[in-house]
Amino acid sequence: MAVKPTALEVMLAAPVIPVIVLEDVAYAVPLARALVAGGIRMLEVTLRTPAALACMEAIAKEVPDAVVGAGTVRSAADAQAAAMAGARFAVSPGYTHAVGRACHDLGLALLPGVATGSEIMAAQEDGYTALKFFPAMQAGGVAMLKAWQGPFADVKFCPTGGVNPANARELLALPNVACVGGSWLTPADAMKAGDWQKVTQLAREAAALPR
Ligand code: 3PG
Repeated sequence: MAVKPTALEVMLAAPVIPVIVLEDVAYAVPLARALVAGGIRMLEVTLRTPAALACMEAIAKEVPDAVVGAGTVRSAADAQAAAMAGARFAVSPGYTHAVGRACHDLGLALLPGVATGSEIMAAQEDGYTALKFFPAMQAGGVAMLKAWQGPFADVKFCPTGGVNPANARELLALPNVACVGGSWLTPADAMKAGDWQKVTQLAREAAALPR
């Protein structure tokens, strides 16, 4: 049984967690290998496509250096299905106690999505202190993270949503930001073209971002 990381370990492994949308299981293994080759091991495969669970299974089985996680986890059933498919961490776009409990019971690290103080407090009540700020740039970006430094000094965030190479540095420089998340490492056109070198290059640049 593969060792499951804690949520903070997921966040600290690299400056960027790639948010991956996979339409075709054929892309899963070469994509994962390309990201790992660029220094990015924690891979968030979103539960947004019919192929998502099969993609997680393929990566978990065939790319031992990758740590596959499930994104877009919105229910206990999603968490269960992801764990069965080999996911070793979960990311949710929002927070409910049901999702928090399910991940706890499954032994699955969870990065709960939050965008307000009340959501942070609900997640903290259940023991979660490594959180995804989503949708980060739409919901206040750097200014919001600075405002949270006072009341929520014990929380580390992974801002995701609208993050790109241009704004990632400013986010990563904040003391309460452990890493960022984003979809820019896995462009759909590069996947369709089988341009895995491009993905490795994007991963390499992301892995080298200072924080
Ligand atoms: C998402 O939900 O798709 C993620 O937040 C990624 O957002 P991005 O495409 O703006 O990086």
